[in-house]
Amino acid sequence: MSTAAAPEPDALDLGLPDPVRAPGLPEEVRIHEVGPRDGLQNESALVPVEVKAEFIARLAAAGLNTVEATSFVHPKWVPQLADAEELVPRLVGLPERHPGLRLPVLVPNERGLDRALAHHTADIAVFASATETFARRNLNRSADEAMAMFRPVVERATAAGVRVRGYLSMCFGDPWEGPVPAEQVIRFGGQLLEMGCTELSLGDTIGVATPGQVTALLDGFAAAGVPVGRLAVHFHDTYGQALSNTLAALRSGVTTVDASAGGLGGCPYAKSATGNLATEDLVWMLHGLGIRTGVDLRALVAASGWMAGQLGRPSPSRTVQALLGANQG
Ligand code: HMG
Ligand code: MG
Repeated sequence: MSTAAAPEPDALDLGLPDPVRAPGLPEEVRIHEVGPRDGLQNESALVPVEVKAEFIARLAAAGLNTVEATSFVHPKWVPQLADAEELVPRLVGLPERHPGLRLPVLVPNERGLDRALAHHTADIAVFASATETFARRNLNRSADEAMAMFRPVVERATAAGVRVRGYLSMCFGDPWEGPVPAEQVIRFGGQLLEMGCTELSLGDTIGVATPGQVTALLDGFAAAGVPVGRLAVHFHDTYGQALSNTLAALRSGVTTVDASAGGLGGCPYAKSATGNLATEDLVWMLHGLGIRTGVDLRALVAASGWMAGQLGRPSPSRTVQALLGANQG
């Protein structure tokens, strides 16, 4: 029997999940990565533009084919993303290096659309609220006025060949208004789809949903005649429910899931919004279920570890912590 101490395993060699398929789940999931936008909009310190560009390049190199890059919102409302005009030119050439890569940007109004079109943006997203209070706090409009603001944006973008995603926030609960009725969510979500958004992302902005609510809401959209292929889910992990909610959504047929590398983010205008579902935790679960994502988990973890180093604090992602341990950043 050898008396030599067992070698310390290299943390990164410990783990990739052992895939076992489970019934009723898709073969493939498209991850809509929101870290550079939804994550970095919430950082108290301003992140240099070259760091943002490098982060996006690393995420694309890790195999993420949709990376939300920034927002053309009012710079005073979200100063963290006020450098959008400097960032977008730095991303030119990235889609050629990673065929199929899409780099959507958030646009709230026609002024934002003009800015996006000036940079030949191919994908934008408008962002509505299922509640009045959040619409006023986030967009300075009632929920109906916000819809009226988006309509010409979607029409002009579509006419220019730009693809438009619609976000709907506060789909399960609102910090000011409490639980949000499913009919209200389906009504506003339906308006975004009807005005021409190709995809609707249902946001649990403050992370209060539980899986039964997710199934019920998706059943409600199906009953209203909305094909599940047009729906995406956007979970926050405030109460540790984001992965359970994702699994419930997959069982209902959803195949597009939003997530944020390293679990970055929240929302500057939503009291109690904490981190988004971490992309690494999502990928661990999906690959463990034998679901294809096209993502190289090790490269993704390395990118988030690098970003954590830039931000000067460890990533809250459990998978990043497990795989990088004390070596983060
Ligand atoms: P407002 O103050 O009502 O704007 O803000 P306005 O239309 O009255 O215009 C006032 C001035 O702002 C004008 O300039 C406009 O040109 C200018 P002036 O004529 O006085 O010189 N302006 C702009 N400048 C640059 N870019 C623009 C723009 N628009 C107007 N796009 C507004 C209304 C919608 C602009 C503002 O409320 C805003 O920017 N809100 C965005 C807030 C935000 O980005 N929040 C975070 C988004 S995340 C989210 O919603 C949740 C999500 O992540 C999903 C989830 O997690 O659940 C998507
Ligand atoms: Mg979010």
